[in-house]
Amino acid sequence: MGVLDLSVGVGPMRAEHQRLLRTTLRRGDNTPERRPDEEVDVASYDPAALGAAHRVWRRRAFNEHQSAMVFTGLLPQLVEAEATLDVKTTVLRMAMDELRHGALCAGIVEAMGGEGSLSADLRTRPLPDHPGCTPLERAMRNALFIGCLAETVAVAFTAEEREQTSEPLMRRAIEQISADESLHARFGWAFVTEAAPELDDDARVRTNTWLRTAFRYLEREEMLEVPDVRPPSDELREQGLALGVCDNGATRALFYDTIREAILPGLEALGFAAHEAWRQRLAA
Ligand SMILES: [Fe+2]
Ligand SMILES: [Fe+2]
Repeated sequence: MGVLDLSVGVGPMRAEHQRLLRTTLRRGDNTPERRPDEEVDVASYDPAALGAAHRVWRRRAFNEHQSAMVFTGLLPQLVEAEATLDVKTTVLRMAMDELRHGALCAGIVEAMGGEGSLSADLRTRPLPDHPGCTPLERAMRNALFIGCLAETVAVAFTAEEREQTSEPLMRRAIEQISADESLHARFGWAFVTEAAPELDDDARVRTNTWLRTAFRYLEREEMLEVPDVRPPSDELREQGLALGVCDNGATRALFYDTIREAILPGLEALGFAAHEAWRQRLAA
């Protein structure tokens, strides 16, 4: 266990970090970062809704921050796969996006009067190395899982939250996160679109089989994040939505819609037997 502190340090790199936020990582005119002394008007919310918001944004801070290591872990695989420079710089930009998302979420916890730093298991796991695959196939599988599956689901979830979150600080954070996740998903689809035609028949068959495992893992992880419990009342549901707490039932349904309407057709169009792999995900 360790302490994950997502505040900006006061050392000489502080100015460089702030410059990155203003330049490289910027989207639109809104600055999503919490302004000094900006606070959520906690008195206007039910303590139960606030409690849920604390839990959700703290967990989110951790998950977002951990996503940075997924992208940095992808860089060496992209190098081995002989990816072009634009792909390598973009993957590092996305790692920075995720660190920032973590900090935005931690700032929201603080704006509700909570503790922004959290104690957590800070060990990181390397990306799967897919033994027996070529370097391109390995990088493609991980880019597919990250971009075409996980980030595509994230785009759907955050687009929904963006519509429902009305508390201004949360809303600005969701808008930034949603716009960034959309790049992360596009990255995956673009990389797989270029890599897929390079696969030989054996690699294609292997990828179709692996997709079952990928779908099974994705479904399990996503469902763990949104347990099948209903908000205790409509009023608490509405307050939760305003604070960026999703309705788990609706989010679960959105997951399956996204699989059916975006992910399966997208992968089929690239020549993968995605429908069959989804049907067989529990049989693997
Ligand atoms: Fe993110
Ligand atoms: Fe992301």
